[in-house]
Amino acid sequence: MTKKSFYITTPIYYPSAKLHIGHAYCTTIADAVARYKRLTDHDVFFLTGSDEHGQKIQQKAEEEGVTPLAYVDKIVAGFQGLWQKLHISNDDFIRTTEERHQRVVQEIFRRIYEKGDIYKGKYKGLYCTPCESYWTERQLADGKCPDCGRAVAEVEEDAYFFKMSRYERRVLEYIEANPDFIQPVSRRNEMINFIKQGLEDLCISRTSFDWGIPVPIAPDHVIYVWFDALTNYLTPIGFLDDIEKFEKYWPADIHLVGKEIVRFHSIIWPCILMALDLPLPKMVYGHGWLIVDGDKMSKSKGNVVDPLLLIDEFGADAIRYFLLREINLGQDGNFSRDALITRINADLANDLGNLLHRTLNMIGKFQGGVVEKALGESAIDRAFLDEAQKTIDAYEREMEGMKLQSAIKTTWAFISRANKYIDETMPWALAKEAAKKQELTNTLYNLAESLRRISVLIEPFMPETAAKIWRQLGIAEDFSAVRLADVRAWGGFPAGTHVASPEQLFPRIEVTEEKPTAEGRKGSTTKSQEPQKKQKAEKAKHDAPADGIITIEEFRRVDLRVAEILRAERVPDTEKLMRLQVSLGDEEREIVSGIAEFYTAEELVGKKIILVANLKPAKIRGIRSHGMLLCAKSEGSLTLVEVDAPAGSAVS
Ligand code: MSP
Repeated sequence: MTKKSFYITTPIYYPSAKLHIGHAYCTTIADAVARYKRLTDHDVFFLTGSDEHGQKIQQKAEEEGVTPLAYVDKIVAGFQGLWQKLHISNDDFIRTTEERHQRVVQEIFRRIYEKGDIYKGKYKGLYCTPCESYWTERQLADGKCPDCGRAVAEVEEDAYFFKMSRYERRVLEYIEANPDFIQPVSRRNEMINFIKQGLEDLCISRTSFDWGIPVPIAPDHVIYVWFDALTNYLTPIGFLDDIEKFEKYWPADIHLVGKEIVRFHSIIWPCILMALDLPLPKMVYGHGWLIVDGDKMSKSKGNVVDPLLLIDEFGADAIRYFLLREINLGQDGNFSRDALITRINADLANDLGNLLHRTLNMIGKFQGGVVEKALGESAIDRAFLDEAQKTIDAYEREMEGMKLQSAIKTTWAFISRANKYIDETMPWALAKEAAKKQELTNTLYNLAESLRRISVLIEPFMPETAAKIWRQLGIAEDFSAVRLADVRAWGGFPAGTHVASPEQLFPRIEVTEEKPTAEGRKGSTTKSQEPQKKQKAEKAKHDAPADGIITIEEFRRVDLRVAEILRAERVPDTEKLMRLQVSLGDEEREIVSGIAEFYTAEELVGKKIILVANLKPAKIRGIRSHGMLLCAKSEGSLTLVEVDAPAGSAVS
């Protein structure tokens, strides 16, 4: 059976500067959608690229004393490097300076000219160079460019015009008849209002600079950048040279764009396509903008965030996860370093990392590393499996509706549910009773199967992590061949599989203090920023607030866990020290504690206490003590803080 095709595009980015985190946000969304469509067995074509012509690029190149092509070559190589590091899975990268594209643009110009929809006239108007946009007096905002707020210049020159006014009624009818064409709905209403004010003919050539594609019938004119740029969507899918390919992918399923360029994609582009008698794209999705610490990014404010630096520091998957999890697709969203670190620690290191670690550890310890076949199920298992099914149904619904953030939340709710399932079933307790062997096997099977599912569900968001989990689960099947349908029914984990020993997915980020980042902003220092660490620690001491207040981030660094005391014995030749074996659910530890004056060994066994689990191990009387238990202190006595919760539970 032939697969259904799916064509998704990002805007092609201007190489007027390096890309920032806002551009990375846009491409990451498109990548997640493309990956999801591949998972649902579509024949996907995912396109991104660079929009390399125009006056601004020419000016930039002149400032640097190089040719425009030399200038863009360097910057575009940077784009491609960034997409590689961010695991972007585009099927092609279109540069508007490529010969294949020039042929398409000129051919389109010719066809529309021959049809009589392009004519020569005089352009007199207002031009915003940074936005490469023409405006009428009426469209200006306080006399300035309505998009970027900068000054516009009056220009007058011979020019070719595209008869866009001719298509005004048809494009409006199309938008009104196709409620899904412009998403989200708020953008659709804006566009309808815009058209209702009247569409003027569009100036599509310039003579005042020459860095562009020549007009085929008048080589002293270059084609206006937006006319050149929009047609990029036709070039790589065989518009001129591979009709079969073209018919497979056109019309595009989604043009994903930022909110300020929805107008070009949902009005101008459809008019051009109508003039060419081509079908219109199925959807133009206008996503919101990423702001940084509550502010619009700009060079002058010095708050432009470089995605490459972030990837180097935190890894691509953590950045992808943050962007997709934190921001509701149609709305503006905020990037902050502290929010990123909080997400990494809470969602990735704790929730996901712990689930994998605990599961693999227990399979290693209780079943020699082998996932065995499940037989039968308890009420607890049933409830858990029901949740797993609901998760996959909701996930599919949300991904199909472009609700990426909701799909991530759904997946993470299931990850938390799986962690809870460990606490409910207490495999360490089952392991102690021979009669519970099958129950233990079932629990561990269900956990392994959950992780198999989770790895597939997170692949669109975190491809590298998904593959890492798959590898650690030891499943022989090639991960790249796995589809969503393979995890729709419960029980696909191959019994008899040997899992690997757990490897950490995301180390917790230790935050020490605020520091100005490479971009000149304030941000948290992490472990990876070793060099000035000592000096900073000293400074932090002085800067510590006098009132002893700590931030939530500082508190979150403490990993508090419920631990059950399994054995206790007094450390010989001491009065105060007790040596304790404690269970953290999937792990046993030894600690030494100064409580021997207040509790006997017999009193301690069986108590469930709270342990500081991430305290650096220390040697006390030659014994390695790994953790510290919490006690209440009052007038010469100590009372253990006891809780009635399963061993291993996180305390927060
Ligand atoms: N070259 C045109 C697009 C032509 S498509 C036929 C262009 N380029 S751009 O480099 O200025 O912007 C490309 C995309 O990046 C736009 O969709 C824009 O919305 C997006 N973003 C730029 N800054 C952004 C944020 N701060 N946040 C999110 N997206 C942002 O326009």
